[in-house]
Amino acid sequence: MKTIIYNIGKLYTFEHEVVPVKKDALNECEVISDAFIVIEDDIIKAIGSGDFTKHRDANTILHDAHGLIALPGLIDAHTHLVFGGSREHEYALKLQGADYLDILRMGGGILNTVEATRKATFDELYKKSKKFVDNMLLHGVTTFEAKSGYGLNLETEVKQLEVVKKLNENHPCTIISTFMPAHAIPKEFKDNPQGYVDLVINEMLPKVAKMNLAKYCDIFCEDEVFNREQAKVILEKAQSLGYIVKIHADEVVPMGGASLAAEIHALSAEHLMATSDEDMDKMSHANVIANLLPATSFNLGKTYARAKTMIEKGIAVSICSDFNPGSCPNENLQLTLQIASRGYGMTPIEVYNGAIVNGSCSLQYQDSIGSIKVNKKADIVIMDAPNIEYTIYHFGSNHVQDVFKDGKLVVKNKQLVYEGK
Ligand code: NIG
Ligand code: FE
Repeated sequence: MKTIIYNIGKLYTFEHEVVPVKKDALNECEVISDAFIVIEDDIIKAIGSGDFTKHRDANTILHDAHGLIALPGLIDAHTHLVFGGSREHEYALKLQGADYLDILRMGGGILNTVEATRKATFDELYKKSKKFVDNMLLHGVTTFEAKSGYGLNLETEVKQLEVVKKLNENHPCTIISTFMPAHAIPKEFKDNPQGYVDLVINEMLPKVAKMNLAKYCDIFCEDEVFNREQAKVILEKAQSLGYIVKIHADEVVPMGGASLAAEIHALSAEHLMATSDEDMDKMSHANVIANLLPATSFNLGKTYARAKTMIEKGIAVSICSDFNPGSCPNENLQLTLQIASRGYGMTPIEVYNGAIVNGSCSLQYQDSIGSIKVNKKADIVIMDAPNIEYTIYHFGSNHVQDVFKDGKLVVKNKQLVYEGK
C-alpha cells in the first residue's frame, strides 16, 4: 500500500545526526516547507518539497494535509497506564495541605490504587486502559511506555503486564512494558520491608523475566519507600536477569537515586526534582537520560526539576507525561509539553525534541521512530497549526488533526478511525 501525504505547510523532521540530543542541538529542528511524505506499507520511502507526482501511481492513496504542520508521532517514555480505581478524594486532601508522601504513609496513594488494581478483573483493567490509550492517540502519542507497579504481588503485576501485552496486540499504538514491582511496600509487608525486597529479588523478577513480559525494570527510590541500598540490590539483580533499568529518583527527598542511576548505568532516571549539581554531573558522565515529568510538578504543586541546568551539563533531557492515577492523572502529552516549556523555560523545539527524539532513545527505539526519515516507521502527526511554536503557545486544546501509525491513518479529522478492539 502506498500513501502520499502532500500539501504539508511545514514538515518538522526532528532528524539529528547524533541522538539523544543534548545542549544546543536540543533547540534545533529541520523544517521543510510545502512538503510531502511517501509511505509504503509502514515505512517512509521518500520525503520532499513541491511536486510529488513522480512518486504517484494509479493505486496511491493521496492524503491532503491542507497546509498544516506535520511532525513525528509523539512518544511518551514514562506512564503508569494500567490501574484500578481513581484518587480524586486525595486531591481534596492535597488542597488542604496533605503531602504526597504523608498520604502514602497513611496507606493511601499508591497503596490505595494497589487495592483497587488487585480487585479489578483483567477485562475491567483492559477496558479502562484502552480508553486512556485511545485518548493518548487522539492527542498524537503513537508510542509509549507503561509501567506495572500497582499489584505489588506476582499475580497482579502479571495481570497488569498482560493487559499491556493484549493492548499492544490489538491497538495501533506501540506500548513498551516496564516491570515495577518495587513501587511501594505492600501493606502485608509493612513491618517487614526486607521480606518484600527478598520476594522481588528471588521470585518476582525471575518469573516475569521468564514470562518475557517486560524488557525494562523501574523502582521508586524515595524516603520510606525503597532506599538507595535496596534499590541497588533490586536493580542489580534485575540487570543480571537481562532487564534494562530505570529509577524514579529524587522526586521528593534526595536519596541518592540519580547517583545510583549513574553508578549502575541505568538507561534513564525519572523525576529528578531534588537532584544536586554533583549528581547531575554523574548522570551526565554516565549518559543517563533524564526523564522529566513536569505535569507531576504542576499537579502536586511542587518545584520543577532544574531542566536548564541539566541541559547545560550535557544531560539528554526527555519530557514525559508520568500519566498515573495519583500524582498526574493526565494523558495529554501536548499539555505536558506546554507545562514543560513554561515550568522549565524550554523552547517549543526543545520540549518536542525532548519528548520525541530523546523519548525514543529512552525506550531504545531511536532506530525506527523519533524522526521523519527515509526507512523509519511512518508514525506521523498532522497538527492544525501554522507552526510548531503555536502548539505550545496556544495551550490547553488538542491541536492534532490526523495521525498515521505504521503508515495507516488512525485518527482522521480528530476522530479515531482505526479498526481493532
Ligand atoms: O511517578 N512516584 C511514584 N510513582 C508515580 C506515582 C504513582 C501514584 O501516585 O500512583 C509517579 O509519580
Ligand atoms: Fe512515574
